[in-house]
Formats: sequence, structure tokens, C-alpha cells
Amino acid sequence: MQRTKVKELLTGAGVGNEVLLKGWVRTKRGNKFVNFIAVNDGSTIQNLQVVADAEKFGEDALKDVTTGAAVAITGQLVESQGKGQAYEIMANTIEVLGKADPETYPLQKKAHSLEFLREIAHLRFRTNTFGAVFRVRNSLAFAVHRFFNEKGFVYMHTPIITASDAEGAGEMFRVTTLDPQNPPVTENGQVNYEEDFFGKATNLTVSGQLEGELAAMAFSDIYTFGPTFRAENSNTARHLAEFWMIEPEMAFYDLKMNADLAEEFIKYIIRYALEHNREDIEFLGQRLTEEDKSKPQNERQEMTLLEKLEFVVNNDFERVTYTEAIDILLNSNHYKKKKFQYDVKWGIDLQSEHERYLVEKHFKKPVIVTDYPKDIKAFYMRLNDDGKTVAAMDILAPGIGEIVGGSQREERMDILVERMKSVGIHEEDLWWYLDTRRFGGCPHAGFGLGFERMVQFVTGMGNIRDVIPFPRTPKNAEF
Ligand code: 4AD
Ligand code: MG
Repeated sequence: MQRTKVKELLTGAGVGNEVLLKGWVRTKRGNKFVNFIAVNDGSTIQNLQVVADAEKFGEDALKDVTTGAAVAITGQLVESQGKGQAYEIMANTIEVLGKADPETYPLQKKAHSLEFLREIAHLRFRTNTFGAVFRVRNSLAFAVHRFFNEKGFVYMHTPIITASDAEGAGEMFRVTTLDPQNPPVTENGQVNYEEDFFGKATNLTVSGQLEGELAAMAFSDIYTFGPTFRAENSNTARHLAEFWMIEPEMAFYDLKMNADLAEEFIKYIIRYALEHNREDIEFLGQRLTEEDKSKPQNERQEMTLLEKLEFVVNNDFERVTYTEAIDILLNSNHYKKKKFQYDVKWGIDLQSEHERYLVEKHFKKPVIVTDYPKDIKAFYMRLNDDGKTVAAMDILAPGIGEIVGGSQREERMDILVERMKSVGIHEEDLWWYLDTRRFGGCPHAGFGLGFERMVQFVTGMGNIRDVIPFPRTPKNAEF
């Protein structure tokens, strides 16, 4: 017999038929007449209830049917008499494929804390919360590809190992085959990377953008979607050392077109998740509403998760320049009452408290901030006519802060080279990048969406460690 997944069985298709169910036991309860076994197979947040007649099966036959065990069950799919589910299975045969000793199985019926579950990340997939989170993550990833492919963008695979530092921030993980205890050294005592595997110093990529720009100069519109790595020592709920980034790059786009695309893209993937993962999002929303009950009134969410997402897809994002944003902060009561930890003045890099004030307190919606001071942004961003700012854009999301970073790129060779010089990037190291400006260069733009921050936004999960299966953070690479 062919196995049918729970999601399909719960539609009631084939009711009355004999079916084969395979999955993992979530709970078993019962009395001396009947047992109820809730089985989940990951296809949906819902369990399928299996009814096992006690006389037919006897205690012994069901003793290994415990929380966490893998089972194969045949039986008739029937309309349920009980409340809580529309359909259930009247079991004919129950086979335990893999036992889970109740004495040692770490997941029990009770709700576990997210912190505890993080320590058993290898098992947390089997909880309702993480089931929902990772199904939503999957849908968002699929929607990313669908969005760009519908628009005729080419998916480009950029290298994981590179010799460049795209962001120029020096936050790279070195990749080397040299003996760390005893590396070869040059005459002046430096590590001699010529003897390294690639004949030069290499690192894990911090962004696929530079390579993406090369491809955009041929395909017009491309996007990347891959893992990126940053050795920034930020132990926050928004930073990972290994995260996934989506980086579209478009020839002939200016900053406004770039911002328009980013807004359309974000709304599209949220809408896709709302359509395909409504139950999961509803469940995650209820979790937050429960959590809120233990918080003081002023810290509670004004909208439920679903309301928030519906609002975001149905309303324009706010757009302000950096200079306007600074003015808003300076004129806020929050500033006057000295409630910001970091000072506000033109030229500062917006801190997360500033970003969150703008989106959560002031605008109460996603905000696109453009035209940042050049000194706090990467070398490749296009210099504006004022000579002080660059055509940059960050998108800030409520509850998250920066979710997108992007810009129009500097296509003018002389200005780009000048800028590289001033931040200490050698022309020889990026000769291939500069070739795009030498040969058929054109105005172009792009952005990077932090995929985990997006998943956080849609699932409402407070900590980024809970939206990637195996988080990599400082002092943590257990699994
Ligand atoms: O703003 P960032 O550094 O921009 C770039 O990397 C550009 N090359 C993108 C481009 O224009 N093609 O990073 C982009 C986004 C951020 O807005 C944030 O959402 C996410 O990547 N991000 C991180 N997410 C998780 N952990 C980290 N350590 C992150 N650093 C950046
Ligand atoms: Mg950024």
C-alpha cells in the first residue's frame, strides 16, 4: 500500500478507504477500552489521530508506541466522532519502526523553552513551533526563486571561497590548509600564503555581490541565494556567523528602481507564505499572543502576527533619507528625554535602537532609508552629487531593524578607484571587478536581503538562532 501524508489525509480525500500512515508519535492517551495516538509526519502542523481498540491490540502491542517513536499504521480513514479533528484512522495494524525510550527521550509532552530546545537542535524539528518555523522558511525560500524567475532574473551561484572582502569590513573567516602551529613565513615574518592551497590568502565569502555584479553585466538581471559568513563578534538576537542572503543585481537600475523592486519582493514572499502556510503562521501568532500575556501592557504587540503581515503586504513602505531620519530622531521626545543609549547626530551609523524607534514608534511600518553618509558605507556605493552621501538604501522592519542593505553602484571608474584608495583597497586585488567599469560598464544597483531576518519577521521568532536549523554564533557550532 502507498503511504499517504497527514496533510492529504486531513483533507478527507479517500475517506472510508484503507490507508497507510507513517510518522512519529506525538502523544498517546487512552483507557481500558480505547487508545488515541496522535501522529505527526511533518507535512502539516496538525497531527492525525489514530484510534486503537484496546481489545484488538492489547497493552503489550502498544507498549512501544510512545512519544517520539516512529510508526507505520494501517487502518480505515473515517470521519471523527470526537471534537478537535474532522478525520481519524481506525487502526488495523500498528508497527513500531523505531522506538524512543520514554526514560531518555528529551522531548516530552509539556512545552519546552526555546533555550532548552536550542541545546537539542537536532531534535527540535519535531516540535510544533520548529515544524511551523521551518515549513515557513521553506516556503519563503521557494517564493524567492519563484519571484525572481517570474521576472526573468537568472539565478547565479557565486563562490563560497573568495580572495576578496566584498564589504571591506574585515570580518572574514580565513580558509587555509596551512598548519596553524607552524605556518610558512616570508622574509619579513609574515605568513606566506603563497604556499597555501590557493597560492594566496582566502576566506569564506561575506557577500556574493561583487561576483553578482559581473554577471549582471551580461544577463541584466541576476540574483544569488546562498550562505554567507561573517566573523563579527556580535552576540545578538539578529546576528549569525553563517547566514543566507539573497542578492539581486540589476543593470540599468537606479536607487529608486532598486527600492521599488525590494519592496515588491518582500511583499511577494510574505504573501506567498500567508497563502501556503496560514496554519503555521496562525500557530506561531498564538504563541506570541500567549507570550504577551505575561508582559506589561506597554510591551505587548499592537497587532497579532497575521494582522502585522497583512498590514505590511497591503501598505506602502515609508521612504525617508538618512538626513530626514536623523532629524526625526533629534526631534523625538525619546531623544529629548535622553532615552537613547547612543548619541544621535548626522554622520553616525544608525544603531538598532534608532532603527527600531523609526519603524516601531514613529512610522509603525517598514521604512526605506536612503542616502547615507559615505563614510559609514561600503566602497562600491555610488557617490551622490552632494559629495557627502551615497545612493544607499537600508530597509528597516518592525521588530527586526535592518533587513535589507543595498545601493546603486559606483559605475564611474575614476570615482570608484579614488574611493577604494581612500579605504585601503588595492586596485590590483579587484582588477576583475574594475573590468566591469572598464568594459561596457553601466549604471546598476542591487540589494541583499538577510534571509533569516526575513524568516524572523514572518514567524515572529525573537531570536535568529530559532529560524535557522543549525545556528552558528560565537562559541557555538555544536551540531
Ligand atoms: O547590509 P549588508 O552587509 O549588505 C551586503 O552584504 C551587500 N553586499 C548587499 C548587496 O547590496 N548586494 O547585508 C545585507 C543584509 C542585512 O541587511 C541583514 O539583513 C543581513 O544581510 N545580515 C545578516 N543577517 C544575519 N546575521 C548577520 N551577521 C548579518 N549581517 C548582515
Ligand atoms: Mg547593512
